[in-house]
Amino acid sequence: MAIPWSPATRTAAAPGSSSGWYPVAHSAEVSTTPVQVGAGGRAYVVVRLTADGEVTAVSARCPHRLVPLVAAGVVDGHLQCPYHGWRFNAEGRCVEIPSLGPDGTPPPRADLTVPWAVEERDGWVWLAPERTATLRPPRSGGSRPAPDPEPVPDPAPPSGPVFGNLDPSLTRAWHPVALADELVDGGYVQARLLGRTWTVHRRDGELDADPPAWGVQERYGVVWLAPDEPQGPVLAVPEAEDPRFAAAWLPPARSAAPAGPLADTLLDVAHVPFVHAGTTGTSAEEVPAHVVTPEAGGFRSVQEHWSDRGAGRRRATSVYRVPFQLLRRLEEPATGTVRTVLFLLQPEDRDSTRIYTCVLLCAGDAGAVPGDVLAVAVTHQEELLAEDLALHARMDSQGLPLLLRDELHVPADRLGVALRRALADFAAAGATADLPDRASA
Ligand code: FES
Ligand SMILES: [Fe+2]
Repeated sequence: MAIPWSPATRTAAAPGSSSGWYPVAHSAEVSTTPVQVGAGGRAYVVVRLTADGEVTAVSARCPHRLVPLVAAGVVDGHLQCPYHGWRFNAEGRCVEIPSLGPDGTPPPRADLTVPWAVEERDGWVWLAPERTATLRPPRSGGSRPAPDPEPVPDPAPPSGPVFGNLDPSLTRAWHPVALADELVDGGYVQARLLGRTWTVHRRDGELDADPPAWGVQERYGVVWLAPDEPQGPVLAVPEAEDPRFAAAWLPPARSAAPAGPLADTLLDVAHVPFVHAGTTGTSAEEVPAHVVTPEAGGFRSVQEHWSDRGAGRRRATSVYRVPFQLLRRLEEPATGTVRTVLFLLQPEDRDSTRIYTCVLLCAGDAGAVPGDVLAVAVTHQEELLAEDLALHARMDSQGLPLLLRDELHVPADRLGVALRRALADFAAAGATADLPDRASA
């Protein structure tokens, strides 16, 4: 007689225990493309690290920035995270962190957790998350109906606070709400900000907001709104007031990702060879540890290096201001050429962020920047942004984890660590501030 089989009747495991065997997928469904599965209430991905190889099962998130590894790929017999290219073997060991350079040794915390056992039997992949009394999974072939896999649980969320787009502290900041060109005189724009709709009018050159805001201003071709008294000023962009620079805004983009993780990517260097392989190439290099200098409302990091393209010394500067204003400046001091990209993020709703990007170019000794050069730079920046947003579409993030031990930080992550600290301080200051009444309106 066929015995109905379900995970609920799989073994005589104690209540709350995850010991025993769990059927998680048809063997034929598991290839070199990872599949997310659940076993014993835990999330794993199952994958073959070679086309006809055995099935490997590892925990479902990368420990670095908690990227779901269902988005990972298989490269040279290893599972490779799509964000920074960390590689894991069949035992879950992290065997390579590209930003550490060829001699870098991944720390033990970089390893993924693996179930006690993985087996294929009768066309099914089975996992035993913990040591179990039976060394092999039960038979499920013959006349016995195939068991139902467990529902796939969400991978474990961070244990500490996560800075999302509706954090209450965000009322105390300047936020971009429109490009100035979107707001003609006598007209208005409706903007989502922090889960509310604001109408910003321009009347006789003056800006005002409905509902009333602590401030509305126009600067650098952007309309800014501060719901309550901001904790800090708008980021200074000297290039925007320098006549030697030509500047152009990209059309504003939108992402379902929260602004914190987006800012993290925009400050990050180590993702470039992996996320931007299609636009900038794939040569992964060791990322030197950045020196980060704290500044009021944020930080700055300056790196100098010699270009291998004959451009001499190059200087890269990153500047960040809370909550979501940042720029990256690349200079060649010998020629005076500068390329700056300014990013401003508008936290619209819990799952919506509007992204403003401005490219500012100076040709230095070569004189004025030709229009076609600026157009090419804008198109290139649009391609880069699209790649970053495609990554975030797969990241499934609720916000930026503020507890540093919820993620794993390596020397290339100094800017990311500084970002988390700055936002933690910002959130704490906002939480203790005596806000005016309209903060809760
Ligand atoms: S390598 Fe996985 S998130 Fe960085
Ligand atoms: Fe990027």
